[in-house]
Amino acid sequence: MNTDIVAYYRDRAAEYENVYAKPHYLRDLTRMTAISQDIFRDKTVLEIACGTGYWTERIARTARAILATDINQSVLDMAAAKDYPTGNVAFRIEDVFGRYPGGTFDALFGGFIWSHILLERLDEFLVCALERVPPGGAVVFVDSRYVPGYSTPISQTDPSGNTYQTRRLENGSEHLVLKNFPTPDFLRGKLPGAEVIELEYFWLAIAQRT
Ligand SMILES: C[S@@+](CC[C@H](N)C(=O)[O-])C[C@H]1O[C@@H](n2cnc3c(N)ncnc32)[C@H](O)[C@@H]1O
Repeated sequence: MNTDIVAYYRDRAAEYENVYAKPHYLRDLTRMTAISQDIFRDKTVLEIACGTGYWTERIARTARAILATDINQSVLDMAAAKDYPTGNVAFRIEDVFGRYPGGTFDALFGGFIWSHILLERLDEFLVCALERVPPGGAVVFVDSRYVPGYSTPISQTDPSGNTYQTRRLENGSEHLVLKNFPTPDFLRGKLPGAEVIELEYFWLAIAQRT
């Protein structure tokens, strides 16, 4: 089965945002939008793994500027095709594990990427992400909680504790997708001082870069 997460999201681009239309998510998404727009108000934000720009579009309404990045051109094309009346969004291909010195960001946002990072690469991921913002800069990650009966069941767990779901795309292809579900304590361990907010279906970890 296909286990390439980058290829999975490349091929899922056109159907990706269907997930945000699920009615039971509406209350959480509304709250997450409000929190993000408040935190990033007037900030220059680096968004990693922006996908099709669902959060980019929302954060852009209050941020000073956003550089939205992703490894897949197919999702960046969809994100760039959206209407940004504020004219404050730019896009760039970037790998979350790449080192990109410089930049003038004062905040970082990562939506639904944490869960797709192997546990053994999480520290490396955080070094690469956090070095992009100065000490004191706002850092926000959001991702999924595991909700029995709603979440796609975990089909495999590897020896390191990473969990995987079997997912099918509209073209019929099957993928074994890495999807980890950190506890609030685990998140606070990786992001010292973080406030972790658990909503019904999602979590937010809000920290300041130390
Ligand atoms: C679950 S989607 C999240 C998209 C968007 N942030 C959102 O919340 O709607 C995960 C995204 O991570 C991107 N991605 C996966 N591996 C990546 C990597 N190594 N570097 C940058 N982006 C990556 C995928 O292309 C995909 O767009």
